[in-house]
Amino acid sequence: MKTKRIKDLFHNGVPDENATIQGWLRTKRELKEFTFIEVNDGSSLKNLQVILDKTISNYEETIVRLNTGSSVEVSGTLATSPGKNQNIELKATTIKIYGDSNPETYPLQKKRHSFEFLRTIGHLRNRTNTLGAVMRIRNSCAMAIHKFFQEKGFMLIHTPIITVNDCEGAGDLFKVTNFDLSNIPRNEKGNTEYTQDFFGKPAYLTVSGQLEAEVMAMAFQNVYTFGPTFRAENSNTSRHLAEFWMVEPEMAFCDLEGNQDVAEEFLKYVFKSVLQSCPEDMEFFNKYIDSTVLETAEKITNKKFERITYTNAINLLENSNKLFEYAVEWGIDLQAEHERYLAEEVFKSPVIVTNYPTVTKAFYMRLNDDQKTVAAMDILFPKIGEIIGGSQREERLDILEERLQAQNIITEDLSWYLDLRRYGTVPHSGFGLGFERMVQFMTGVKNIREVIPFPRTPLNAEF
Ligand code: 4AD
Ligand code: MG
Repeated sequence: MKTKRIKDLFHNGVPDENATIQGWLRTKRELKEFTFIEVNDGSSLKNLQVILDKTISNYEETIVRLNTGSSVEVSGTLATSPGKNQNIELKATTIKIYGDSNPETYPLQKKRHSFEFLRTIGHLRNRTNTLGAVMRIRNSCAMAIHKFFQEKGFMLIHTPIITVNDCEGAGDLFKVTNFDLSNIPRNEKGNTEYTQDFFGKPAYLTVSGQLEAEVMAMAFQNVYTFGPTFRAENSNTSRHLAEFWMVEPEMAFCDLEGNQDVAEEFLKYVFKSVLQSCPEDMEFFNKYIDSTVLETAEKITNKKFERITYTNAINLLENSNKLFEYAVEWGIDLQAEHERYLAEEVFKSPVIVTNYPTVTKAFYMRLNDDQKTVAAMDILFPKIGEIIGGSQREERLDILEERLQAQNIITEDLSWYLDLRRYGTVPHSGFGLGFERMVQFMTGVKNIREVIPFPRTPLNAEF
């Protein structure tokens, strides 16, 4: 490609007598003899300043057509800038306008826009500084995740998006059907006749790729899946999406201790890598969004995570003298307020809570010897609460069957999953990282809807 990315121009610096860039105009400033425009091409937070003067053919006509949002291609010489706000600028010899933009109707103005407003223009909001920086951090996180697992010899696997299981047993499933919804086939009892549906039985969008990841781990030892997951939970909060991306490693011959070690090493690696690859964007968040993000990210890479049991966590909460909305007693499912209290006030750092009461967790988690708790682990972050949920899996056939029965799950549907325990079962563990929660934490943005290009939440699926 003959064009260059603005990020590389800043990186390589002058001299460059033959630079061509393409992008979208952010600002225009007309002086008597020249016009300055700033162009952004999405490769960096910084705009490139371009100087246009009367040596440009059709100067007057071109200048009139240039507006915020127009798409342009500019060629010229990159030079040191005398201005105080930038160190390089492009002295244009030619400019081509690809697409005009009407300043009367283009919704992005030079002022700051609220996140709520920007969500209504999801097709244009990525052209703002903040969303641009978020998406670059998101990209960098995704790359670091793959790098971490690939360097450790994990195999990338693709788990299905359409499934017939409710992995988490929480019933928050979106149904997948090709029935005509105004004319659903029913049997004589009036129940839906699923045998006539596309798959011949009820099917759903997956809530987790874990069960299939377990299948793959039983052949390849260490695997990971990184894909979209769907939950029809009606929680309109700043940390829930109906469609979000999850990273799920699954490791054969690995216990809860090993699971915690991998999760901690993994988070540290990704944070470190993003700090290294996106320093400018991270500084932007620290300056304009949350003045603690750099310090917290550094801390995550350096400080060992606290590890406590659920029972100890309950003791800490009970002795906190804090009035929580949800009352604390042994056996409850920890709520976001409890999780945040532990991470923000007690430990002031990430904390791994292990061994939750059996009743609060999914059927696949390994029963501990006390018969009351399972080998679960949740990683809690300040401001976010739970960022990772995982466990050692129940590898003993008889106990797994009992757990399924206790939760009224039909074992025939999961006979393939039980087969993994019949043939060459091994201790194994894994976890799921909420990818958007990670990006949210890293950037400090308050609402998870800002860290995914097209958020899906209750009553909201635009674009
Ligand atoms: O704790 P969860 O439900 O765990 C599982 O699904 C396991 N099967 C994972 C595994 O062991 N392989 O979800 C994992 C993570 C949570 O810790 C949270 O970060 C994120 O997924 N998460 C959500 N993120 C955004 N919106 C939602 N509605 C989320 N629900 C869970
Ligand atoms: Mg969880």
